[in-house]
Amino acid sequence: MSENKNNIEALEVHLKVQEKIYPPKEIADRAWIKDYEEIYKRSIEDRESFWGEIANELEWFEKWDKVLEWKHPYAKWFVNGKTNITYNALDRHVKAGKGDKIAYIYVDEEGNEEKISYKELLKKVEAFANGLKSLGFKRGDRLSVYMPNSIEAIIVMLACARIGVIHSVVFAGFSEGALKMRIEDAQSKAIVTSSYTKRRGKKIPLLPTVEKAVEDIDHIEKIIVWDRDNEGLADQKGERYIDFDKFIDENYGKECPPEVMDAEDPLFILYTSGTTGKPKGVLHTTGGYMVYTYYTAKTVFDLHDDDVYWCTADIGWITGHSYIVYSPLVNGITSVIMEGVPNYPHAGIWWEYVDKYKVNIFYTAPTAIRMLMKYGDEIPSKYNLSSLRILGTVGEPINPEAWHWYYEHIGRKKCVVVDTWWQTETGGHMITTVPSYPMKPGKAGKPFFGIEAMVVDKNGNELPPNTVGFLVIKNPWPSMMRTCWGQPERYLKYWNSIKNYYNAEDLASIDEDGYIMIVGRADDVLSVAGHRIGTMEVESAIVEHPSVVESAVIGKPDELKGQKIKAFVILKQGIQPSDELKKEIQKTVREILGPIAIPEEIEFVEKLPKTRSGKIMRRVLRAKELGLEIGDLSTLED
Ligand code: WT7
Repeated sequence: MSENKNNIEALEVHLKVQEKIYPPKEIADRAWIKDYEEIYKRSIEDRESFWGEIANELEWFEKWDKVLEWKHPYAKWFVNGKTNITYNALDRHVKAGKGDKIAYIYVDEEGNEEKISYKELLKKVEAFANGLKSLGFKRGDRLSVYMPNSIEAIIVMLACARIGVIHSVVFAGFSEGALKMRIEDAQSKAIVTSSYTKRRGKKIPLLPTVEKAVEDIDHIEKIIVWDRDNEGLADQKGERYIDFDKFIDENYGKECPPEVMDAEDPLFILYTSGTTGKPKGVLHTTGGYMVYTYYTAKTVFDLHDDDVYWCTADIGWITGHSYIVYSPLVNGITSVIMEGVPNYPHAGIWWEYVDKYKVNIFYTAPTAIRMLMKYGDEIPSKYNLSSLRILGTVGEPINPEAWHWYYEHIGRKKCVVVDTWWQTETGGHMITTVPSYPMKPGKAGKPFFGIEAMVVDKNGNELPPNTVGFLVIKNPWPSMMRTCWGQPERYLKYWNSIKNYYNAEDLASIDEDGYIMIVGRADDVLSVAGHRIGTMEVESAIVEHPSVVESAVIGKPDELKGQKIKAFVILKQGIQPSDELKKEIQKTVREILGPIAIPEEIEFVEKLPKTRSGKIMRRVLRAKELGLEIGDLSTLED
């Protein structure tokens, strides 16, 4: 089970790290959650009234009849409740007199800044939503979004939610193949994009990728372009194109009442990778997602009204959806959003902005921390980071070294580090540190309220403390995925593979104190710089190269990125291996999937290890590559 070197390292960490660090008194004293154990107990014993009370902190057009209806593996939360997430994210605050409060401070790498208030954001959302209506969009239709990390992207997402259109955001770092698959699968009626995104001082074009992706897709009726340099792109391109700004201007000032959504009406689809097949469209719905993300953000980040919060993720991932867009707005706070990378124009840019905007809560990924760490301690030391209170991490296990650097050099030992474990499928934080509770570097923490996490063997038997096994969740929670778009059978697998539990496909262990350490994925899903990539997706892209017959892909430990991709490739008869060919294969993957999926290493081989049924045994390749025990070979054919 632990043949991956990463896993072994994590285990060593686990044995060594038993230290507990207590939160600073000021932080613990002001935290929403003072007594984790007591509230946790109630949240499990009295699940429905617990979530009902929290849902009551938000506005509903009609209250629910029942908090939970659970017919394994299908859950309905806040049954027959009616609401609209944008009403809670925007109107509610404007009505409470907070309309002039800044919702987002957008910054780019050059220090250009743009602020938008709650009132103005609502107006633009209404304008865009009215525009969508004028195109014939109605509840349940899908809109694809391929945009930079920007206020404009957030406007589009919220405009969809306003009128019940299901958004499907695709990370703008993906290439045309990945984008095309997602547009086709969602059967979107239109796509919103931008002329370019800014990265490392360059303008990376986005529109050409969209044009190639939708070339043969008839169901894409319109392409809405945010023309950032006013080049008149939509006019030049013709009828299928609409100018984003014009679209807003034409509809600006007209109200767009929030559509009355059932708690279980779809909110969005977001694609994520699994071991087999194409990426799956994880479907999230309205009520439960709203309540759960609102409450996790409030308590885990300990959000208070005057806080400035910054999540460095991209809106193209679930972290962006839940913790850049929806929950910060529903909590009514001010967020920073940045377009760009952490080390351009210099490796202190994040700390410069934390200082400039007096950020109180900062949320990022271990891979970024490890990267910034290597530039040295002097860099953060140049800035005043005393506004910081909570430091969050997400996406992959954080090694204690990076944890301590974050805690000492960014938090100056005056902050709480919250390690939040969750997934695209879970919608919100599941296992995490809470600010009033002691931290254990390298361990995510305890289950959030209402979450019963267990570590079990493959038959579902609970394992003793400090033993690595499968991480499962026993009962439904409000923001759980409801289905896989168009592939309901793939949803069933999550709840049917280990007893009747939700199988997270992660390996973990629980210590005597109930702290959970996440070891890594239990399946063949890769985690490169915190991005989830399916081995099959990369393999399929590689075989698109005309010289390739077959390929197998594994993850290799990487100091910075967690994992890097290595591909074993079988070439067609008569084709000679060469470095040139390696580069071409890398280029193919870049074109189809995008830069994050490029195999850094390629090895040409004659054969691949397979089971009798013909499945590639990636664990054998991995064990060989890393010089580890191969394990059970009885199912090996050759
Ligand atoms: C996988 C989910 C949830 C937002 C970003 C990733 C890994 C996530 C942690 C953490 C250790 C983590 C898991 C999980 N993961 N957070 N705090 N510690 N591992 O979402 O792309 O759906 O990936 O990311 O392996 O299964 P995702």
